[in-house]
Amino acid sequence: MSVAKSLAHDSGPLHVTGQARYVDDMPLPANALHLAFGLSTIAHGAITAMDLAAVRAAPGVVAVLTAADMPFANDGSPSAHDEPVLADGVVHHVGQPVFLVVASSHHAARRAARLGKLAYDERPAILTVDEALAADSRFGPPVIWARGDAGAAIAGAERVVEGRLELGGQEHFYLEGHAALAIPGEAGDMHVISSTQHPTEIQHKVAEAIGLPMHAVRVECRRMGGGFGGKESQGNHLAIACAVAARATGRACKMRYDRDDDMVITGKRHDFRIDYRAGFDGEGRLAGLEFRHYTRAGWALDLTHPVADRAMLHADNAYFIPAMRIESHRLRTNTQSATAFRGFGGPQGMAGVERVMDHIAFVLGRDPLEVRRANFYAVPATPGDPVQTTHYGQEVRDFVLHDLVAQLEASAAYQDRRAGVAAWNAANPVVKKGLALTPVKFGISFTLTHLNQAGALVHVYQDGSIHLNHGGTEMGQGLFQKVAQVAASEFGVDMAVVRITATDTAKVPNTSATAASSGSDLNGMAVQAACAEIRGRMAAHLAQLHQVAPETVVFADGRVQVGAGDLSFAEAASLAYQGRVSLSAAGFYKTPDITWDRTTGRGRPFFYFAYGAAVTEVAVDTLTGENRILRAYILHDAGASLNPALDIGQIEGGYVQGAGWLTTEELVWDDKGRLRTHAPSTYKIPAFSDRPGVFNVALWDAPNPEATIYRSKAVGEPPFMLGISALMALSDAVAACGDGTLYPDLAGPATAERVLRAIRRQQGRDV
Ligand code: MTE
Ligand code: MOS
Repeated sequence: MSVAKSLAHDSGPLHVTGQARYVDDMPLPANALHLAFGLSTIAHGAITAMDLAAVRAAPGVVAVLTAADMPFANDGSPSAHDEPVLADGVVHHVGQPVFLVVASSHHAARRAARLGKLAYDERPAILTVDEALAADSRFGPPVIWARGDAGAAIAGAERVVEGRLELGGQEHFYLEGHAALAIPGEAGDMHVISSTQHPTEIQHKVAEAIGLPMHAVRVECRRMGGGFGGKESQGNHLAIACAVAARATGRACKMRYDRDDDMVITGKRHDFRIDYRAGFDGEGRLAGLEFRHYTRAGWALDLTHPVADRAMLHADNAYFIPAMRIESHRLRTNTQSATAFRGFGGPQGMAGVERVMDHIAFVLGRDPLEVRRANFYAVPATPGDPVQTTHYGQEVRDFVLHDLVAQLEASAAYQDRRAGVAAWNAANPVVKKGLALTPVKFGISFTLTHLNQAGALVHVYQDGSIHLNHGGTEMGQGLFQKVAQVAASEFGVDMAVVRITATDTAKVPNTSATAASSGSDLNGMAVQAACAEIRGRMAAHLAQLHQVAPETVVFADGRVQVGAGDLSFAEAASLAYQGRVSLSAAGFYKTPDITWDRTTGRGRPFFYFAYGAAVTEVAVDTLTGENRILRAYILHDAGASLNPALDIGQIEGGYVQGAGWLTTEELVWDDKGRLRTHAPSTYKIPAFSDRPGVFNVALWDAPNPEATIYRSKAVGEPPFMLGISALMALSDAVAACGDGTLYPDLAGPATAERVLRAIRRQQGRDV
């Protein structure tokens, strides 16, 4: 069987030899045109005049379009219809597309786009959480979910802490920027090739924009050079622009964002302010907890509601909180429209409660690991006993963190390391070390229940080769390879027999975004269903030829055993073809047993949870605030892994990206709302040299108790939140600079500057 094998990423050889094709590598039809947006230079205001004469006159320019030239819908939003592709009268952030240049080359389009002269009637811009609160600038009223009376529980508790955690946003920094290509066909048909996690949405939005039914639009994506949530909705604008320009000119149109444009135009992770108040006992056990989440959603709604909901859904992380109240404020600001990013709000919600654990441990003078353990969800003493529920009412049935954390504690030598860090800090005044172990419990399923469905299309050709297609997209996570492993296993054939093909809305319709880590869960099952259908038909036919029962036909090792007969898979396929058996099937899957009411905040939104834990050890230079991760130890639950090598890759990448979010990756907007960190020169993602010196990642190898594809678990996002241990370890190191009385309110990202300021506060010096 191919599943459970550590096979390399199917595109690995193509990636390293430069043969892997991305949108920008597609050979263009003759006469193809290139597009660029002219952007708003202010954060908020009405456009009073637009002088585009110089743009039109610039070399190579073929056409210039504004909102008035959009033939049908002028909207790039995923659902709220609040995001004009080209600004219609008012601009809402610096970098908002205002006009579209269509030119003979990429550079001609970009150069001309700078020549537009826009006049505005400027309006006050709302940039910060405080400004948004003062102006009551919001997307809907605060969302409040509660269990029990948290206020009363806190009032009655032995001890109380309160505080604030500020968490920055994050730029996706996919290596391939956004890109799209539209090729017009006959009778208005449009073929779109897009770097998107959501081909069906591109199809839908392009169809709206060119005034045709979805059947006239076909969207393809072979792979992305990273998406990380940034290509769930943010690619709509480029695809729409290309399709509209292709319709207007009758020529193929391509657009790709230059890196700076990509960073200035597209949405990022939501930054959060989290206020907390917690009541607990002398062991650190929580009695009641209140959170207030404030997030800057940017100028348009995009996916803010589900993102902010998921932050609320992960505000418990791994802890049973008897009384809890969460208030969530979704604030409208004159900045890029914040969007999906790995974890989808989960990281922010989880960081909040991890901060609370850390703070409680500090005031009690205990090891934070003890406090975390004291609050873990309980495992029923005898199976069948009632299990604890989350604050939204879902039973936590397979809570493995007691055992998983114990195993990690031993394999990472946590206690020895703790003693070692204390000894180091006692002996070294300048470089201080810190240590933290944080757990992850992440809910798997889309919270919008209807999205939990997937389709597949499988063909077996008469030579026994297999064409595999499904609704998931490949962004480097290895989904295509995992799903191909499923197909190969179902037919008992070698991987080379299975051809992985581009995601294509003409092959599998009505797909969900490849998101919420659900790619292999959903598409793996849909492919399994399609393969089972074809296998069943082949078995029935062969069984009849050999006069045996269909159930006795065995597909394994590239062979098909039928009674005494032993055929190659190719011979079996050929026989089935000659017997006029259909060798093509569609498969479908929907996740069972999930229910969710987001207004009341009650239900079972998740089919299951994925778990993990990380130990991070850091060192900080107390003179400069510079810091680095010395060691990271991870134990992560991928269920019965479909591919351990790919899963470990996801865990390593997730941890590093999570740690990057909380350490070096800082987004800075100036007081005019201009993003000052719009290139790698100013925005710092972790480099290879930032990799922990010791980086040990192991899988917690246990089958998923829920019936997922081969009992595996989703692994795309959960490991991101293991990076929270880096922030907590830095907080531990900073605390070592003081006398144990002042809790270091270290915000994320803990840049060197922030760490230095926190250290100076510990030392009682001016910050
Ligand atoms: N891994 C790589 N290499 N590149 C990516 O863009 N995106 C992440 C995660 N891992 C991403 C990645 C995000 S945000 C999600 S939701 C999942 O992959 C999506 O893929 P899956 O559902 O197949 O896990
Ligand atoms: Mo991932 S943020 O769900 O694309």
